[in-house]
Amino acid sequence: MKLTYYGHSCFAVETNGKKLLFDPFITYNELAKHIDLASIQADYILVSHGHADHIADCVALANSTGATVICNWEIHEWLNKQGVTNTHPMNTGGARAFGDIGVKCVVAQHSSGLPDGGYGGNPMGFIVYSNEGTFYYSGDTALTMDMQLIPRWAKLNFAVLPIGDNFTMGTADASVAAMMIGTNNVVGVHYDTFGYIRIDHDKAIKTFRDAGCKLHLPAIGETINL
Ligand code: NI
Ligand code: MN
Repeated sequence: MKLTYYGHSCFAVETNGKKLLFDPFITYNELAKHIDLASIQADYILVSHGHADHIADCVALANSTGATVICNWEIHEWLNKQGVTNTHPMNTGGARAFGDIGVKCVVAQHSSGLPDGGYGGNPMGFIVYSNEGTFYYSGDTALTMDMQLIPRWAKLNFAVLPIGDNFTMGTADASVAAMMIGTNNVVGVHYDTFGYIRIDHDKAIKTFRDAGCKLHLPAIGETINL
Protein backbone atom coordinates (compact mmCIF):
# COMPACT_ATOMS: atom_id res chain seq x y z
CA MET A 1 0.00 0.00 0.00
CA LYS A 2 1.17 3.52 -0.82
CA LEU A 3 0.89 6.24 1.82
CA THR A 4 1.35 9.93 1.02
CA TYR A 5 1.75 12.33 3.94
CA TYR A 6 0.20 15.81 3.61
CA GLY A 7 1.20 17.13 7.04
CA HIS A 8 -0.38 17.07 10.53
CA SER A 9 -2.84 14.13 10.50
CA CYS A 10 -3.63 14.35 6.80
CA PHE A 11 -2.52 11.44 4.64
CA ALA A 12 -3.72 9.36 1.73
CA VAL A 13 -3.50 5.59 1.32
CA GLU A 14 -3.83 3.98 -2.08
CA THR A 15 -5.10 0.43 -1.95
CA ASN A 16 -7.18 -1.80 -4.25
CA GLY A 17 -6.85 0.98 -6.84
CA LYS A 18 -8.74 3.42 -4.60
CA LYS A 19 -7.43 6.54 -2.92
CA LEU A 20 -8.47 7.15 0.71
CA LEU A 21 -7.72 10.57 2.15
CA PHE A 22 -7.77 11.08 5.92
CA ASP A 23 -8.41 14.21 8.03
CA PRO A 24 -7.86 16.94 5.41
CA PHE A 25 -6.02 19.93 6.93
CA ILE A 26 -3.57 21.46 4.47
CA THR A 27 -4.22 25.10 3.53
CA TYR A 28 -4.04 26.29 7.15
CA ASN A 29 -0.91 24.25 7.90
CA GLU A 30 2.16 26.51 7.75
CA LEU A 31 4.34 23.43 7.16
CA ALA A 32 2.30 22.27 4.14
CA LYS A 33 2.34 25.43 2.02
CA HIS A 34 3.97 23.53 -0.87
CA ILE A 35 1.04 21.11 -1.17
CA ASP A 36 -1.36 22.06 -3.96
CA LEU A 37 -4.89 21.19 -2.90
CA ALA A 38 -6.00 20.97 -6.53
CA SER A 39 -3.52 18.13 -7.15
CA ILE A 40 -5.16 15.89 -4.54
CA GLN A 41 -7.51 13.18 -5.75
CA ALA A 42 -9.60 10.91 -3.57
CA ASP A 43 -12.33 8.29 -3.84
CA TYR A 44 -13.09 8.47 -0.11
CA ILE A 45 -12.35 11.06 2.58
CA LEU A 46 -12.40 9.69 6.13
CA VAL A 47 -12.81 12.22 8.94
CA SER A 48 -11.97 11.04 12.46
CA HIS A 49 -13.55 13.96 14.35
CA GLY A 50 -14.77 17.53 14.04
CA HIS A 51 -11.75 19.60 15.08
CA ALA A 52 -10.57 22.14 12.52
CA ASP A 53 -7.13 20.54 12.27
CA HIS A 54 -8.86 17.43 10.83
CA ILE A 55 -11.66 18.90 8.75
CA ALA A 56 -10.62 22.40 7.56
CA ASP A 57 -10.23 21.39 3.89
CA CYS A 58 -12.95 18.73 3.86
CA VAL A 59 -15.66 20.78 2.12
CA ALA A 60 -13.25 22.03 -0.58
CA LEU A 61 -11.80 18.57 -1.23
CA ALA A 62 -15.16 16.77 -1.12
CA ASN A 63 -16.31 19.20 -3.81
CA SER A 64 -13.15 19.12 -5.94
CA THR A 65 -12.65 15.34 -5.82
CA GLY A 66 -16.25 14.12 -5.69
CA ALA A 67 -15.12 11.69 -2.99
CA THR A 68 -17.56 10.16 -0.54
CA VAL A 69 -16.91 11.50 2.97
CA ILE A 70 -17.06 8.82 5.67
CA CYS A 71 -17.56 10.30 9.15
CA ASN A 72 -19.80 10.17 12.20
CA TRP A 73 -23.48 11.13 12.04
CA GLU A 74 -23.05 14.64 13.44
CA ILE A 75 -20.24 15.57 11.03
CA HIS A 76 -22.29 14.09 8.17
CA GLU A 77 -25.19 16.40 9.06
CA TRP A 78 -22.82 19.38 9.40
CA LEU A 79 -21.27 18.67 5.99
CA ASN A 80 -24.74 18.37 4.45
CA LYS A 81 -25.49 21.87 5.79
CA GLN A 82 -22.29 23.11 4.07
CA GLY A 83 -23.69 21.76 0.80
CA VAL A 84 -21.63 18.54 0.77
CA THR A 85 -24.07 15.71 0.05
CA ASN A 86 -21.66 12.92 -0.95
CA THR A 87 -21.36 11.72 2.64
CA HIS A 88 -21.75 8.37 4.37
CA PRO A 89 -22.54 8.49 8.11
CA MET A 90 -21.19 5.83 10.46
CA ASN A 91 -20.56 5.60 14.18
CA THR A 92 -18.33 3.80 16.65
CA GLY A 93 -18.56 0.02 16.43
CA GLY A 94 -19.98 0.05 12.93
CA ALA A 95 -18.37 -1.60 9.91
CA ARG A 96 -19.27 -1.42 6.26
CA ALA A 97 -17.95 -2.42 2.85
CA PHE A 98 -17.34 0.30 0.29
CA GLY A 99 -16.83 -1.81 -2.83
CA ASP A 100 -13.93 -4.12 -1.97
CA ILE A 101 -12.65 -1.88 0.85
CA GLY A 102 -13.92 -2.42 4.39
CA VAL A 103 -14.08 0.27 7.07
CA LYS A 104 -14.65 -0.33 10.77
CA CYS A 105 -15.10 2.59 13.17
CA VAL A 106 -13.47 2.16 16.57
CA VAL A 107 -13.20 4.07 19.84
CA ALA A 108 -10.93 7.10 20.19
CA GLN A 109 -10.53 8.92 23.51
CA HIS A 110 -10.65 12.59 22.57
CA SER A 111 -13.27 15.33 21.90
CA SER A 112 -14.89 16.44 18.65
CA GLY A 113 -16.39 19.98 18.54
CA LEU A 114 -16.88 21.43 15.04
CA PRO A 115 -15.08 24.60 13.83
CA ASP A 116 -18.24 26.74 14.23
CA GLY A 117 -18.80 25.49 17.79
CA GLY A 118 -21.38 22.88 16.73
CA TYR A 119 -21.59 19.43 18.34
CA GLY A 120 -19.30 17.07 16.46
CA GLY A 121 -20.40 13.76 17.99
CA ASN A 122 -17.80 11.31 19.24
CA PRO A 123 -14.28 11.00 17.82
CA MET A 124 -13.43 7.73 16.03
CA GLY A 125 -10.55 5.69 14.72
CA PHE A 126 -10.75 3.54 11.59
CA ILE A 127 -9.61 0.06 10.61
CA VAL A 128 -9.37 -0.26 6.83
CA TYR A 129 -9.42 -3.69 5.16
CA SER A 130 -8.41 -4.37 1.57
CA ASN A 131 -7.00 -7.21 -0.53
CA GLU A 132 -3.58 -5.55 -0.27
CA GLY A 133 -3.61 -5.42 3.53
CA THR A 134 -5.11 -3.87 6.62
CA PHE A 135 -4.28 -0.75 8.58
CA TYR A 136 -5.54 1.24 11.55
CA TYR A 137 -5.67 5.01 11.93
CA SER A 138 -6.42 5.85 15.55
CA GLY A 139 -7.41 9.51 15.00
CA ASP A 140 -6.61 11.86 17.86
CA THR A 141 -6.66 9.73 20.98
CA ALA A 142 -5.14 8.92 24.31
CA LEU A 143 -3.67 5.47 24.85
CA THR A 144 -6.77 3.48 25.79
CA MET A 145 -7.49 -0.09 26.86
CA ASP A 146 -9.96 -0.29 23.97
CA MET A 147 -6.94 -0.66 21.69
CA GLN A 148 -6.53 -4.20 23.03
CA LEU A 149 -9.60 -5.12 20.96
CA ILE A 150 -7.97 -4.16 17.65
CA PRO A 151 -6.13 -7.50 17.16
CA ARG A 152 -9.51 -9.30 17.45
CA TRP A 153 -10.66 -7.45 14.35
CA ALA A 154 -7.52 -7.07 12.28
CA LYS A 155 -4.03 -8.30 11.63
CA LEU A 156 -2.41 -5.00 10.81
CA ASN A 157 0.22 -4.29 8.16
CA PHE A 158 0.73 -0.86 9.74
CA ALA A 159 -0.87 1.80 11.92
CA VAL A 160 -1.02 5.59 11.81
CA LEU A 161 -0.83 7.06 15.31
CA PRO A 162 -0.55 10.56 16.78
CA ILE A 163 2.75 11.14 18.59
CA GLY A 164 2.81 14.89 19.33
CA ASP A 165 1.70 14.72 22.98
CA ASN A 166 -0.23 17.59 24.66
CA PHE A 167 -3.53 16.96 22.75
CA THR A 168 -3.02 13.23 22.08
CA MET A 169 -0.67 10.38 22.90
CA GLY A 170 3.02 11.20 22.95
CA THR A 171 5.67 8.82 21.68
CA ALA A 172 5.92 6.75 24.88
CA ASP A 173 2.18 6.01 24.98
CA ALA A 174 1.99 5.58 21.20
CA SER A 175 4.71 2.91 21.34
CA VAL A 176 2.64 1.05 23.95
CA ALA A 177 -0.40 1.46 21.68
CA ALA A 178 1.57 -0.19 18.86
CA MET A 179 2.12 -3.24 21.09
CA MET A 180 -1.57 -3.38 22.11
CA ILE A 181 -2.83 -3.19 18.52
CA GLY A 182 -0.26 -5.71 17.34
CA THR A 183 1.96 -3.93 14.86
CA ASN A 184 5.62 -2.95 14.75
CA ASN A 185 5.14 -0.65 11.78
CA VAL A 186 3.90 2.83 12.68
CA VAL A 187 3.53 6.11 10.80
CA GLY A 188 3.64 9.05 13.24
CA VAL A 189 1.28 12.00 12.74
CA HIS A 190 -0.08 15.01 14.69
CA TYR A 191 3.33 16.47 15.57
CA ASP A 192 5.36 19.64 14.80
CA THR A 193 2.39 21.55 13.29
CA PHE A 194 2.04 23.88 16.29
CA GLY A 195 4.39 24.85 19.11
CA TYR A 196 2.47 22.69 21.61
CA ILE A 197 3.25 19.50 19.69
CA ARG A 198 6.79 20.03 18.46
CA ILE A 199 8.88 16.88 19.04
CA ASP A 200 12.44 15.61 18.79
CA HIS A 201 12.38 13.24 15.79
CA ASP A 202 15.48 11.22 16.75
CA LYS A 203 14.14 10.72 20.26
CA ALA A 204 10.76 9.64 18.88
CA ILE A 205 12.36 7.10 16.55
CA LYS A 206 14.49 5.77 19.42
CA THR A 207 11.47 5.42 21.73
CA PHE A 208 9.78 3.23 19.11
CA ARG A 209 12.96 1.32 18.31
CA ASP A 210 13.39 0.49 22.02
CA ALA A 211 9.84 -0.94 21.91
CA GLY A 212 10.75 -3.07 18.89
CA CYS A 213 8.91 -0.81 16.44
CA LYS A 214 9.76 1.02 13.25
CA LEU A 215 8.50 4.63 13.33
CA HIS A 216 8.07 6.24 9.90
CA LEU A 217 8.13 10.04 9.76
CA PRO A 218 7.68 10.80 6.05
CA ALA A 219 8.32 14.36 4.86
CA ILE A 220 5.24 16.40 3.94
CA GLY A 221 4.47 15.49 0.33
CA GLU A 222 6.49 12.25 0.50
CA THR A 223 5.03 8.88 -0.53
CA ILE A 224 6.15 5.67 1.16
CA ASN A 225 5.33 2.01 0.56
CA LEU A 226 3.99 0.01 3.50
NI1 NI B 1 -8.57 16.84 17.81
MN1 MN C 1 -6.03 17.25 16.29
